[in-house]
Amino acid sequence: MAKKNKFYLTTPIYYVNDKPHIGHAYTTILADVLARYHRSAGDEVFFLTGLDEHGQKVQQAAEKRGVPPQQHCDEMAPRFIELWQRLNIQYDDFVRTTQDRHKSVVQACLKMLFDKGEIYTSEYEGSYSVAEERFITETEVKSGQFRDVKTLKEKNYFFRMGKYQQQLIDYIEKNPEFILPETRRNEILGFLKQPLGDLCISRPKARLSWGIELPFDKDYVTYVWFDALVNYISIPGYTTDKEKFGHWWPADLHLIGKDILTTHAVYWSTMLFALGLPLPKTIFAHGWWLIGETKMSKSLGNVVNPLDLIDQYGVDAVRYYLMAEMVLGQDANFTPELFIRRYNNDLANDFGNLLNRMSGLITKHFEGSVPAAGQATEAEQEIMEYGQKLPSAVKANIDQMKVQTAVDEIMGIVRKVNAYVEKQAPWSEMKKGNKERAGTILYIATEALRIAAVLLQPIMPVKAVEVLDVLGAVDSKPQWGLLKSGTVLKSHSALFPRIEVK
Ligand code: MSP
Repeated sequence: MAKKNKFYLTTPIYYVNDKPHIGHAYTTILADVLARYHRSAGDEVFFLTGLDEHGQKVQQAAEKRGVPPQQHCDEMAPRFIELWQRLNIQYDDFVRTTQDRHKSVVQACLKMLFDKGEIYTSEYEGSYSVAEERFITETEVKSGQFRDVKTLKEKNYFFRMGKYQQQLIDYIEKNPEFILPETRRNEILGFLKQPLGDLCISRPKARLSWGIELPFDKDYVTYVWFDALVNYISIPGYTTDKEKFGHWWPADLHLIGKDILTTHAVYWSTMLFALGLPLPKTIFAHGWWLIGETKMSKSLGNVVNPLDLIDQYGVDAVRYYLMAEMVLGQDANFTPELFIRRYNNDLANDFGNLLNRMSGLITKHFEGSVPAAGQATEAEQEIMEYGQKLPSAVKANIDQMKVQTAVDEIMGIVRKVNAYVEKQAPWSEMKKGNKERAGTILYIATEALRIAAVLLQPIMPVKAVEVLDVLGAVDSKPQWGLLKSGTVLKSHSALFPRIEVK
């Protein structure tokens, strides 16, 4: 048997300080869709997601609620896990950075780097904002926006990031697929034109206690990013399970939002250089979901809660909308109007309606069993050709991270077939007594519907299976011609009932 390709993909691990919103849901759904496409192509997939539980933000959120930070994390984590369940996210592992299996690896990495001289200690003197609990720059001091500013001298630990600057530039230049899309790659190459400094990787416990203790200084914890990024290697078994780690690492895809590109492309890459590990194959940064052209933020009160959308429109409609609407790499806009328009056009009128029509016509004219296809005319040839090319076209688009184009091509056959049925009018053929011709049209259209449903399954795992179940074709492959004539269709309710706008 041919060896399976492995595909290891990750999402960012989300801060546990707040409840997840549509932006977090987006990255995770996108990862799930990619994971499902890869599984259906026969790849061996490892899909990792989870939570980032240390650091100042989490400590502050816990203090605000008046609970110990671990309790806060334990209470917040289910909100994410339950949302992923509701969204049908099939991850293979779920990391929480407060787990021992992760913390011990972070400490092992710190120790190795310290022993190799990649981490050193130094005094830093600068302006510190007590209110913000961080060092601020000279420009920030001058802005006068910070109260309680004092000069603070603090010992900290630093990672020799700067010495890897040229190595990183060379790597990015030699590996065009390492940072995608290209605009993001150029952004990082631009950033690397400035001298790259070393990275402060510690926080004195006196200032921040909620973190992983440095193995070489118990008065310090590690900086949250140095902790969080390591999840990508701790979970597949770095330093603990040689075989597993050797199998999965390097990751094939780190999926992130554009807001955390520098930490991934620069901090993480140089950390891996220092550890002597290969870099992930691709870091892909997608754009932002905007709400009516503005950024989503709690203070603006425009945060979209994915659970509300699921309750109103169903999981698959939400998954579909997010995949169909965003051109990967660019920002996209979310408004209830856009959502409803796409739902009604694509899901109710095109996809849902095609199922309705097929099952209605086959029930009426063929006692509910799929007719056989007779002689094909040019009109049928055209649909068959589209259908035969579709699976490889979809695969190529998915491999190039063009999910939106893949969706559009699948919906293309649905639209084409709706127009074809309208034009070929099998009901008129029946009236004329051409039952065989009517049967051919219905077979071709239903087979196209089956293929569309198979290919939409990674995006709409519930609704696509509902369609395939009606057609007696659950688990079928997207190859043309597999729909069996004589199959008795099951009855069904409306797949996507139209949303009436008041
Ligand atoms: N904990 C860090 C990541 C550590 S990864 C080793 C973090 N967490 S976060 O909770 O702030 O989530 C950030 C991610 O959520 C973004 O990178 C992005 O993938 C997603 N999004 C958050 N808001 C978003 C939008 N408005 N639109 C699209 N994605 C958004 O940063």
